[in-house]
Formats: sequence, structure tokens, C-alpha cells
Amino acid sequence: MRTRIIDTSLEMEEGIRMGAELLLDGELVAFPTETVYGLGADGTNGAAVGRIFEAKGRPQDNPLILHIWNFRQLEGIWSEIPETARLLADAFWPGPLTMIFRTGDGVPAEVTAGLDTVAVRMPSHPVAYALLERCGVPVAAPSANLSGKPSPTTAQHVLEDMRGRIPLILDGGSAGYGVESTVVSLAGEPKILRPGAVTREMLESVLGPVGVAESILRPLLDGETASSPGMKYRHYAPDAQVRVIMGEERDVAEETVRLYDDAVKNGKSVMILSTAQTATLYGERKQTCLGSRRTPVEMCSRLFSALRENGKVADLILAEGIGTQGEGLAYMNRLLRSAGFDVVYAGTEKAPVQAADPFNEGTHDN
Ligand code: TXA
Ligand code: MG
Repeated sequence: MRTRIIDTSLEMEEGIRMGAELLLDGELVAFPTETVYGLGADGTNGAAVGRIFEAKGRPQDNPLILHIWNFRQLEGIWSEIPETARLLADAFWPGPLTMIFRTGDGVPAEVTAGLDTVAVRMPSHPVAYALLERCGVPVAAPSANLSGKPSPTTAQHVLEDMRGRIPLILDGGSAGYGVESTVVSLAGEPKILRPGAVTREMLESVLGPVGVAESILRPLLDGETASSPGMKYRHYAPDAQVRVIMGEERDVAEETVRLYDDAVKNGKSVMILSTAQTATLYGERKQTCLGSRRTPVEMCSRLFSALRENGKVADLILAEGIGTQGEGLAYMNRLLRSAGFDVVYAGTEKAPVQAADPFNEGTHDN
């Protein structure tokens, strides 16, 4: 299959027309959102949704997010619309927030992976919005990467993973946030299952106390069930080993230099993912600075692209850990997973109590 790319900055009308036509024909179309690129299928067509799992190599038990452009579409998707969802939609939709509630009739089992809940999001990206409006149906869409790889933030990244597997990629430039949406479950007490650009603090300003799934920053424990199936799989892994170094800035830089020089002595090609606070401490060593520790939202926007690009040239990526306030939680959630929780503690920083057995490798998600 030939994969066509349409640049929507030049051919918006043609891109939306063709994208909607393919989707309604049961085909897959990749499109930009304000978080990462999505791989869409008609969310009312079980067979079409099934193709997403084939194209990505995604485990069948990992459910998908339905994308909508109009709040009224929720009526056909959820069993009812809870007040909490109205409040959050008023505050954050369209935008990088996914809400989960009990599924109504008629959502294909391919979307929910057989769960009794379904995830929904209203993206704000103009290309996503226009495509959804033209289709009229909810569009099921995971991130448009091969399962296990970092999520794509450009059309080029989508092409790397999906060439020959899908007929169309709508190119809308770089995705803004660069990490996937915040996922919050409203089926019980409000709980964050995956952190994102809509932070816990932002959700709490609307709803009051919001829980956070425990396994956001650690592997699942033996026998623990994932509140979000996607969390049990290894993912965001580039084609290089990733190691995270935690601690005070100066200790981190010192330890990183030591690890870097050791690895180079052993003939490895190494890359540092540094921060504005430490970049000058690495001298001539190879590094990509992801931005200031004080603006993790900026670091998020560069993370997946840095993992993907550096993974092509490096054997080992040494990445600094940062604090988990605000968007720092989303940053560390993705970084730790990309490293398979391989963490080094520098200086006096101590490891938290860790799971006995890291999560099941071998299987990949997301
Ligand atoms: O920003 C985003 O959310 C992007 C763009 C394309 O919208 N999409 C995305 O989808 O990240 P995906 O499939 O890569 O991640 C969806 C996550 C997975 O971890 C999945 O397990 C979880 O949401 N999820 C979906 N439905 C769920 C449900 N009913 N209950 C619990 N977790 C669910
Ligand atoms: Mg994903």
C-alpha cells in the first residue's frame, strides 16, 4: 500500500475531504492533534478499528480513545453524562484531556477491548477538529506509532512507523504538547490514570480532590491489575537503551558525566538529554537540551522527538530526571517507561520502595 502525505498547510480542504472519505470507507488515516499524532478509524465500525491493532502491532486488550468534535456525541457513547464530565468539558475541551465513563450501547468491543468503560477526548487541533466534523462519527485513535515506540510528534515520525501500512497521513506540522492527553476516570471517584498537560492541579481546581493511579511512576507490582491496560506494557522505547539519573542538579550532572565517559570507553555511542540548568556542565559531550527544569511543559514537547532521533544514532541515552510537580509528572511518567524503569540515583537521592519484579517486558504497548 502506498502511503500518501497531504500537507494541510497547503491543501487543507483536499486533506480533510480525502481523510473523511477514507475513514468512512473503513480505512486508517493518521492525523495531527495538539498532543501527538493519532491513527484514526471509524469508531462505529468494529472491523475498521481492528485494523488499528494490526497496523500498530498493538495488544488486543488495550482499549482505544474515541475522538469527538461535539459534546452531544457523548450521548451515544456513554450510559449517561456525569456532572463531573460537564464541568471538566467546560474547562478543558477541546484540549488534551481524555475522560473515561461507563459505556452505553453500540460501542464496538474493539474500541473498549471488552471493558465496561470507554475513553473519550475532544481534540483542539484545527486539522483534527475539521476531520472529525466532516466524518460525523466518533473516531477511535491511539498514538500513530508502532506499539512500544515513542509516540509521533511529526508526520515524518508517523511515516517512519506506518509507511506501507496506511493510505494517508495528514501533515499538520509539529504536535504542540508532545505527550499524550491526561486520562482521567470518572467511573468511580475521579482518578488520573495517565498524567498529561492538563495537570492534577488543574483538574482539582474544577473538581476538588482527584486521585492518581499509583503505578504512574513505578512498575506494576506482582499481581497488581493495571487501572489502565496501557500501563502494563513497555512503551515509548527508542532504538537505544535509556537510563534515567535522579537527584540534585549538580549530583546528576556529575553522575551522568561518569556514566557517559565509562560507556564511551567501552566503545558505545552515548547521548545526554540535559536541561538548561545543567547543559554547560557537560563540556564537549554529546547532548540534546530539552529546556528548563522549571518549564516541564517545554521539556515534554521535545521528549519523544529526542528519544526517537537520538535512538537512531546512540546506543545509550542518559536522561536527567526532574521534579514531578505540574507537567513534570507527565514528563517523568513517559521518561521512566521509555527507560523500562532503569534509574540511577546520584548523590544522596534514595530509591523509593520499588516493585520486586519490573513489569512484563516482551509485550509492548501503546
Ligand atoms: O493524546 C492522546 O490521548 C492521543 C491522541 C492521538 O489523542 N491518543 C493516545 O491513545 O494516546 P493511546 O491509545 O496511545 O493511549 C490511550 C491510553 C492507553 O493507555 C489505554 O490503555 C488507556 O488510554 N485507556 C483507553 N480506554 C481506557 C479505559 N476504558 N479504561 C482505562 N484505560 C483506558
Ligand atoms: Mg500510545
